[in-house]
Amino acid sequence: MEKSLTYPPPFKSNDNRIMDIKINTVATTPFDDQRPGTSGLRKATTTFQKPHYLENFVQSIFNSLPTLDGICLVVGGDGRFYNREAIQTIIRMAAANGIGELIIGQGGILSTPAASHLIRKNGTDGGIILSASHNPGGPDGDFGIKFNTPNGGPAAEKITEAIYAASKTISKYRIATADPIDLDSIGETQLGSLKIRVIDAVSDYAELMQTLFDFDLIRDYLAGRRMIFDAMHAVTGPYGKRIFEEMLGCPEGTVWNGEPLPDFGGGHPDPNLAHAKALVKEMFADDGPFFGAASDGDGDRNMVLGHQFFVTPSDSLAVLAANATVAPGYRDGIAGIARSMPTSAAADRVAAELGVDCYETPTGWKFFGNLLDAGKITLCGEESFGTGSDHVREKDGLWAVLFWLNLLAAKKQSVADIMLDHWQTYGRNAYARHDYEEVDSDAAKSLMTNLTAKLAGLPGSTLDGRTVAYADDFSYTDPVDGSVSEHQGLRIGFEDGSRIVFRLSGTGTRGATLRVYLEQFTSNASDYSADAHELLKPIATIAHQLAGIEYYTGRSEPSVIT
Ligand code: G1P
Ligand code: ZN
Repeated sequence: MEKSLTYPPPFKSNDNRIMDIKINTVATTPFDDQRPGTSGLRKATTTFQKPHYLENFVQSIFNSLPTLDGICLVVGGDGRFYNREAIQTIIRMAAANGIGELIIGQGGILSTPAASHLIRKNGTDGGIILSASHNPGGPDGDFGIKFNTPNGGPAAEKITEAIYAASKTISKYRIATADPIDLDSIGETQLGSLKIRVIDAVSDYAELMQTLFDFDLIRDYLAGRRMIFDAMHAVTGPYGKRIFEEMLGCPEGTVWNGEPLPDFGGGHPDPNLAHAKALVKEMFADDGPFFGAASDGDGDRNMVLGHQFFVTPSDSLAVLAANATVAPGYRDGIAGIARSMPTSAAADRVAAELGVDCYETPTGWKFFGNLLDAGKITLCGEESFGTGSDHVREKDGLWAVLFWLNLLAAKKQSVADIMLDHWQTYGRNAYARHDYEEVDSDAAKSLMTNLTAKLAGLPGSTLDGRTVAYADDFSYTDPVDGSVSEHQGLRIGFEDGSRIVFRLSGTGTRGATLRVYLEQFTSNASDYSADAHELLKPIATIAHQLAGIEYYTGRSEPSVIT
């Protein structure tokens, strides 16, 4: 330690939760792997536990902010292993860096969308969210941290790059010595000049939902019907219980796995067909519920199921857009839609019908921020089980579930019938994503390099009877600030409306993950009852051969299909 001093003179009042601090400046050296990915810095928990690792990154966030003096930040996480320790560290660093106030969710818990809302509602200078989203947690799992800006959304690339640059030159950080703060009791504590406000993590968010959806209509509709919400032992447990069981009158037990656990009960908190197995089984049982849904580690993803029916996230975005006006919050219609590039074009068809703009952005929610802030779009979504709107600046799992319930209550139709009606109007974009996880990083890079080299020669050629309409390396120019993001995935589109996309994951923490996105458009009514995977088999084969997946990765089958 370089120096240590007592600062500021402890503030005295009758509040017994006023604590003295001692500020230390600690010498450190940079880590070379602190570049934020698709969604913040995400690493194995053990990496974050290395001495100075978390502190370096937090100080790098602080060093890239225009000022720290008296600013207010929201802090919370998904409750995973190391969440509480990390929050205590952030508190002590905030106190030592002259930050004015931290608003923290009770127990250190905040869902990502709830954190986004709190940043916006309180007009704070941003927030720090501790989460590795849907990645498993625990000592052998993953941990993550990301910075959100005052608009409530994930920091744009310009800022994450500034944080990364700061992390490469860091030589010291400031941290206070102080007793741990009680995160479990709602109230205020003064730590030196820092005010710490521990708040109920759920109420503000639940209030916001009531302004967007018709809770009375949903409550009446749910009476006597059975639904399940699977919180996967992650952050949405308390939110789900408050909203479904207390506010909407569902019986106790409607929320499955409602207690957030540091290791998510040993599960993989990713709401998809592969990881929410028990829910899927129940939904496909003969006497299964009429509606089921699940959310992920930090509450921003959603999976929606009807009785014996799975809604792809791409279709979900399209259906919500087509029917947005059923919900009070969207009664006046929507300004526009955005989808990430690999997401299917189902939403584009709805946008065309509604006469609103549709934007195709790179993967990652941060790319929706400018469009939302500029009022160009109201709804947005990603194929990776992410759907959201301009109510916050993150995707929002429970919001999507409530939107579907509002829709079901308004239409009084089953999920399957709503989807079928939709396809009859717009046609069907059959869709699937094939992931090859933990493949050798160099092999994955070679596959992408080799495929990139082939792209220019593909347009006009025929692959297995299909003519290639275009083939490119996706680049995006933000229509609001003109910033350009290159190398966002390789797209191969065919004249019959089918498409293959190849990308390497930016959130994986072990080796590389190759994602292959498959889409096949059909307006042939007999295809509406067909299994998506059957419809996609021919282009899956083309994808395999074209990219030499087996040759490079040694895998003949994907590890996960969603
Ligand atoms: C994945 C998803 C992406 C999502 C991100 C954060 O990123 O594909 O859509 O925004 O997680 O939830 P990837 O690992 O593909 O970079
Ligand atoms: Zn998430």
